[in-house]
Amino acid sequence: MDAAPWSRLKSEIYGLVWRNSRSNRRIVSIARVEPEHVILDIGCGPGAAVRNAATLAAKAVGVDRSEPMIEIARRRSRHLGNVEFLVAGAEALPFPDASFDRVWSVHAFHHWEDPEVGIEEAARVTRPGGRLLISEDESNGAHGMDREHAEKLADALVERGFAEATVEKRGRQLVVIAVR
Ligand SMILES: C[S@@+](CC[C@H](N)C(=O)[O-])C[C@H]1O[C@@H](n2cnc3c(N)ncnc32)[C@H](O)[C@@H]1O
Repeated sequence: MDAAPWSRLKSEIYGLVWRNSRSNRRIVSIARVEPEHVILDIGCGPGAAVRNAATLAAKAVGVDRSEPMIEIARRRSRHLGNVEFLVAGAEALPFPDASFDRVWSVHAFHHWEDPEVGIEEAARVTRPGGRLLISEDESNGAHGMDREHAEKLADALVERGFAEATVEKRGRQLVVIAVR
C-alpha cells in the first residue's frame, strides 16, 4: 500500500487540530528573539512557531522530515517574505556551521530517530552566544519528557560544548535552554 496519501491526510488533520498552540507562541518569548536574529525550528510541523518568529526576527527557517508537513507550512506562510521551509531531518541539517542565533524544537525532540546525532547537529548550527531550546510537554509517558530526562539532556548539552544549560517549567512544558 502507498503510505503517501495517508501520511498527507494525517499531516492535514494534525495541522488543523494543532493550528497555533500556546507552546508555539511561548517559545518565541522564551528564546528572546531579537530583530536581527536568524531562527531555526527543527521538526516545525505546520510552521506556527516559524511564522511567530518571523514577525520579530530577520529570518525564520523550519525543517521537518515530513514532506506533507512542509507543504502545509509553506502554504500557510505565503504571506511572509522572510521564512523558508525545507524537508530535512534533525540528524542531517543542511546548513553551514554557526548559521543560527536561535535553534529550537517544540514537541518534536521525543520523535527524533537519533537524539545524540540531532543534538550534535543542533549544536553545530548554533552560533557562539546563540541559544538552543528543546520544549516538550512534561510527561512520564512516550509523548514528552520527564524532569529527570530534561536535566540529563541539559547536562549532555554542556558536555557537548554549550556554556550553560537550564531546565524551566513554562505552562505544561519543560524547556531545556542552552547557551552556546
Ligand atoms: C508533534 S509534531 C510538532 C510540530 C511543531 N513543532 C508543533 O509544535 O506544532 C512533531 C514533528 O516533528 C517532526 N519530526 C519528527 N522527527 C523528526 C526528525 N528526526 N527530524 C525532523 N523532524 C522530525 C514530525 O514530522 C512532526 O512534524
